[in-house]
Amino acid sequence: MRHFLTLNDFGKDEILEMINLAREIKKEAKARDFKPYLKDQKLAMIFEKSSTRTRVSFDVGMNELGGHALFLSSSDIQIGRGEPIKDTARVISRMCDLIMARVNRHETLEEFAKFSRVPVINGLSDKFHPVQLMADYLTMLEFDAGKCVAYVGDGNNMAHSWLILASKLGLELRVATPAGYEPDGEILNLAMKNAQISGAKIYLTQDVKEAVSGADVVTTDTWVSMGQEAEKEKRLRDFAGFCVDENLMKLAAPGAIFLHCLPAYRGYEVSEAVFEAHADEIFAEAENRLHAQKGVMVWLDRHRNG
Ligand code: CP
Ligand code: NVA
Repeated sequence: MRHFLTLNDFGKDEILEMINLAREIKKEAKARDFKPYLKDQKLAMIFEKSSTRTRVSFDVGMNELGGHALFLSSSDIQIGRGEPIKDTARVISRMCDLIMARVNRHETLEEFAKFSRVPVINGLSDKFHPVQLMADYLTMLEFDAGKCVAYVGDGNNMAHSWLILASKLGLELRVATPAGYEPDGEILNLAMKNAQISGAKIYLTQDVKEAVSGADVVTTDTWVSMGQEAEKEKRLRDFAGFCVDENLMKLAAPGAIFLHCLPAYRGYEVSEAVFEAHADEIFAEAENRLHAQKGVMVWLDRHRNG
């Protein structure tokens, strides 16, 4: 049985298998041919943080696959009153077939996975957001984007996830952050190790223009992630000059696409003009959460026995 906590636990071939499965299931869904790949299965969705896309896409996705989803806010279940994660995992995994959790600390997911009888999926942690990256890569393929990606902004869970995806799949990734907001050193090391095998080209810079020049895909994320609200004022000051605006986008390759996991804060990490000029890609990316996650869930179901 496999868990889906970080893309680093998967080989390139496995990631591409999940993507291909997602493409196949998406094609069927577009023809309103919803095959019951997960008939009568139950997905528990545990949220320690807010969500629009993750909640809706997993719920709708599970329904379209013939199963059911349960929304469990951590403040409404006994976790919120101190019941240990390991007990919660042992209870829920005896009643449900899959668990998706959005957590404050990545270690919570690891503990969940350790005690769960069923696959656990990361629906965002402080370290990674791997289901988002599956949707992002699916979108890159659909828009026929090239392999050079520029990530501009905070060295956060999204930056980490891009580092792992790019290093597994052999992409070129330039990560531009302000000083002091670089990605986690351990995650960077993992990516550099992966890159030796895949041939990925990865580098960090503080120069946004250098990162974006000639890039096929430009992407960013909020400067203030969930849980960092107290640092907002300082962050807005420190990220000055890191907004993806029209002048910066002009440096990207002709026909470059712009991706954003959403929610977007216009006037901060992205300008209104860039956002609206690239709305086609951004909302295809959001829709692809639904399709990519179906691929992940069906793949995990097929690998229950190793
Ligand atoms: N991108 C993303 O995960 O969105 P939500 O926080 O709305 O789930
Ligand atoms: N980095 C953001 C992503 C939201 C989808 C956060 O963790 O809040």
